[in-house]
Amino acid sequence: MEYRGYDSAGVALINAQGQLNIYKAKGKVAELEAYASDKDTTGTIGIAHTRWATHGEPNTVNAHPHYSESERLAIIHNGIIENYAVLKAGLQKEGYSFKSETDTEVLIQLIEYTQVNKHVDLRTAVQLALQQVIGAYAIAVLDKDHPDTLIAARKGSPLVVGVGQEEYFIASDATPIVEYTDKVIYIEDEEVVKLSTKGQSTKGQSIKGQSTKDEGIEITTINNVQKTPEIKRLELSLSQLEKGGYPHFMLKEIFEQPRTLADSMRGRVNVRQDNIALSGFIDNKERFLNAKRIIITACGTSWHAGLIAMYAIEEFAQIPVEVEYSSEFRYRKPVINRDDVVIAISQSGETADTLAAIQLAKEKGAFIFSICNVIGASIPRLSNSGCYTHVGPEIGVASTKAFTAQVVALTMLALCIGKEKGTMSEEQYLHVVRALGQIPDKIECVLSQNKRIADFAKTFTYAQNFIYLGRGYNYPVALEGALKLKEISYIHAEGYPAAEMKHGPIALISQEMPVVVVAPRCGTYEKVVSNIQEIKARNGRVIAIVTEGDKMVSKIADYVIEVPETEECLTPLLTVIPLQLLAYHIAVVKGCDVDQPRNLAKSVTVE
Ligand code: AGP
Repeated sequence: MEYRGYDSAGVALINAQGQLNIYKAKGKVAELEAYASDKDTTGTIGIAHTRWATHGEPNTVNAHPHYSESERLAIIHNGIIENYAVLKAGLQKEGYSFKSETDTEVLIQLIEYTQVNKHVDLRTAVQLALQQVIGAYAIAVLDKDHPDTLIAARKGSPLVVGVGQEEYFIASDATPIVEYTDKVIYIEDEEVVKLSTKGQSTKGQSIKGQSTKDEGIEITTINNVQKTPEIKRLELSLSQLEKGGYPHFMLKEIFEQPRTLADSMRGRVNVRQDNIALSGFIDNKERFLNAKRIIITACGTSWHAGLIAMYAIEEFAQIPVEVEYSSEFRYRKPVINRDDVVIAISQSGETADTLAAIQLAKEKGAFIFSICNVIGASIPRLSNSGCYTHVGPEIGVASTKAFTAQVVALTMLALCIGKEKGTMSEEQYLHVVRALGQIPDKIECVLSQNKRIADFAKTFTYAQNFIYLGRGYNYPVALEGALKLKEISYIHAEGYPAAEMKHGPIALISQEMPVVVVAPRCGTYEKVVSNIQEIKARNGRVIAIVTEGDKMVSKIADYVIEVPETEECLTPLLTVIPLQLLAYHIAVVKGCDVDQPRNLAKSVTVE
């Protein structure tokens, strides 16, 4: 779970003597392992947590798990308790004291207070406490007086249960569970899970997808309504979660893109029949054909993929597109109509702001179509339909293979709508479909320049700032390149539409300011050439991404990386690769933690 948060970690275990031991450490799980190496880490039940701080700085006091006042209970939590201050004040009046600054400690004190004062069992105390909570949570609670029971619950933040042989698991996503079982249950909002070591038998809870009843799992709502869970089979393999000989997951995932894009297109792009078949589109054709507007909502890199989709959908399908930052969209009181189609893009499928944005759009009757990479995640489960990107787990916090697969999925969708609406010529459709089929091989060509890019990346590790420029389909690529560099090398970088330079940023140009210009020979190429000349006229240093055999830019730029020719709408799939590699190599030379950059998390499940 470390890729989801890594500023501190902790574990709580109940050993055979009934002691509830908690060990915590600042930093990575490795620090915790070292700290606990000479401690009693035995037990048949336990909970553990890797933290991305929301309340209280990363340190061993604020790290999870947290004890209750009596140290009889322990809790781990992913999310934010928005009304924790009010709850805390009430508990302080009841004489409770607090060791940490966290909202989480307030929750375990509330659970204990409820259990003691209402004389109820742990699950009921958790249900009653959660009824008073405003905010998002995935929690797990232990009670040393009941070492055979674990209570977990969720609202907003993800939670999955693994059903193993004589054992059960809970986790924020399925990656740590696949090693032990492929049977999982995805927990819905406001559900409370009680896991106990009573195990499988004929009595107990009936489970969809399982012939035997299971006495060890009971699922209710926080209002104690019984639920019937459904077991899903995981399509994940352990090898997908390993580096496969690469020094970093990020580099592995960059080099996986020829295969992952082929996987994303398999069964969808049929080059022999010159056709694209997207089941999510076919099943909901009318919603797209009658859409007056398409709203794309996403965050970070997924938002950049959305911006590229705007260019493609407007070009091929002639439907107006608005690309929204989910965090702004959800609070902006947007006008959403029943005939709107809302496309949510999310690698993890758990980003809190995007989840809330589609909840809002759904309440207003819009049709929700999601592009997601994690099977069974909350966003696809909440959507009316969608398209999985099938690139396998993306472990590196900086998104790479998911981005290119999102662009492919959205381009396929734009082509399907355009063809069905007749807003694009058959000839143009065929050209792009055939070009799509050639993309994986063309990415292989770009990847073969890895060594060269690594060499001149060394030249730029000194830089404090970078500017990235692009036009049309490649303006979002400039934004994406800047984001990659920022998030893994901690160098400040800005992406701009190239023509915007003259309206301010050109003042930043100097020998010290490297400028990356995405300039494939298509669309407004000549305009980009003039922009590069304006930068060179002010002694700027230019790294240019150009089309193979480029003659003009290569003469004026300081460094040139060539990518193969392709259709304009597909150039982002090739031009982004050198930018992923450039950011990677600069970060490596600077000694940065490429896979787990400071202050970040792979999935932002809090707002
Ligand atoms: C990208 O490299 C970052 N990890 C981040 O910007 C990410 O794209 C954003 O948090 C959205 O995540 P999602 O696609 O899982 O919703």
